[in-house]
Amino acid sequence: MRADEELTTARLVLRRPAHPDIDLLHALHTDPRACAHNPSDLLRDRAEAEERFRRWDEHWRRHGFGYWSVRRDDLPLGFCGLKLMRLHDRDVLNLFYRLDPAGWGDGVAGEAATAVVRWAAAHRPGLPVVARVRPENVASRRVAQRAGLHRAAHLDTPGEDGPDLIYVLRWS
Ligand SMILES: CC(C)(COP(=O)(O)OP(=O)(O)OC[C@H]1O[C@@H](n2cnc3c(N)ncnc32)[C@H](O)[C@@H]1OP(=O)(O)O)[C@@H](O)C(=O)NCCC(=O)NCCS
Repeated sequence: MRADEELTTARLVLRRPAHPDIDLLHALHTDPRACAHNPSDLLRDRAEAEERFRRWDEHWRRHGFGYWSVRRDDLPLGFCGLKLMRLHDRDVLNLFYRLDPAGWGDGVAGEAATAVVRWAAAHRPGLPVVARVRPENVASRRVAQRAGLHRAAHLDTPGEDGPDLIYVLRWS
């Protein structure tokens, strides 16, 4: 594993996902609570989870970064990371986080997202970081702000699951 494939924070270790992480990927993306605001992310079965993992891994191979698995005390809690995409005709890093509902409300997402945004500043400083959040997803909005992103209403888009509020860092 390359040095920048593993990130550490006070309580967490973030790692490039490996095959055993497909179990949690599958569990989270078949859990209606974890996809309540993003039903288009839901998976039907294990085969779709394996395909989703293959796409995440392909992103890592092509770009040298992607979604990290988030662990505390060696227990997998979920995923947080970056995906290269286009927004308003610009290349951007889309910030993603999805955690096991059993661990919500303990500051894990804020801690993981802050580490990921710090990684982006150090390793991909030329690219804006964005978060696309459904208006009613208050926890997600707070996580974006905690990671240092600012609300940018002029960039809001009609998203796949309804309107997306856009939060940004380094959009100039
Ligand atoms: C969004 C998510 C990752 C937050 O995870 P978490 O570990 O519970 O978040 P944190 O404990 O770090 O809380 C972050 C902030 O949100 C607040 N918060 C958490 N749950 C909340 C809720 N239900 N309502 C309002 N605020 C909430 C916390 O108080 C905290 O605020 P602070 O920064 O002012 O202290 C988690 O709820 C999740 O996985 N949701 C499903 C996937 C998802 O919606 N991802 C985002 C897609 S855009």
